[in-house]
Amino acid sequence: MPENKFLDGHENKKEVEVFFDKWGVYKKAMDHNYMYHKQAYMALRKYIDDSLIRYTFLDLGCGDAEYTAKYLKSSHITYYHAIDLSGTALDLAKSNMHIVSCEKVFTLADLIDFIDFTEEHFDFIWIGLSLHHLTSKDKEPFFSKVKKLLNKGGSLIVYDPFLKKDESLEDFVDRWTETALLHWNALTKDELESLCRHVKKDDFPESYDTYEKIARKNGFRDIQVLFEDIIDIYKVIAFR
Ligand SMILES: C[S@@+](CC[C@H](N)C(=O)[O-])C[C@H]1O[C@@H](n2cnc3c(N)ncnc32)[C@H](O)[C@@H]1O
Repeated sequence: MPENKFLDGHENKKEVEVFFDKWGVYKKAMDHNYMYHKQAYMALRKYIDDSLIRYTFLDLGCGDAEYTAKYLKSSHITYYHAIDLSGTALDLAKSNMHIVSCEKVFTLADLIDFIDFTEEHFDFIWIGLSLHHLTSKDKEPFFSKVKKLLNKGGSLIVYDPFLKKDESLEDFVDRWTETALLHWNALTKDELESLCRHVKKDDFPESYDTYEKIARKNGFRDIQVLFEDIIDIYKVIAFR
């Protein structure tokens, strides 16, 4: 089990930790590419390749890091630091990241606490399907703190579900649930119900416009959409 350094504070933490300790359901959805992992991580790798040759990388809410490992393998990464509040996920991340050769650190922590206390700096800060687990009031401090952890010219890259323009959270949850019930056929009824309950209780996505406003207010000048899915839920956005 990785060292527990920063597990304090964040109010939604316990719920999310309990859910993701049941990693199997999420893994099944990931294996069927229902959340567009392949395209999202491909977009991440292309962005890195177009920006910098040698780089350091912070993986916030790393999960099992399966896709991070697959897509950062054979790039010129010099340092990788993974943060997650689930020990189960972090142990899997350690094992999956074996294929990537660079210095690696795995920290069991709430990402909000980590970005508060760390003195490290990074070229890329990646947050894959985890930003929407922060409540609305945590989002602005998140952008402000992350900006300070980036090296000059560095980027925050967010892969997340997004609300449509002017969509309410309730309408989003209905839309997400409808999509999953219709298309995520590899999951059992119980698995789907467990995921839908999780989305309804623990997910707080925002719209592109909200993130753009928060990001610009906190000094990010260049905002690029690297990937958008065809069902208008998942996007990858780089903030520099
Ligand atoms: C949906 S998974 C995403 C995993 C991976 N990044 C991906 O792209 O598939 C979300 C991960 O974020 C972690 N997580 C959620 N909220 C967190 C927080 N406040 N601090 C640290 N990790 C968090 C969960 O434990 C889980 O492993």
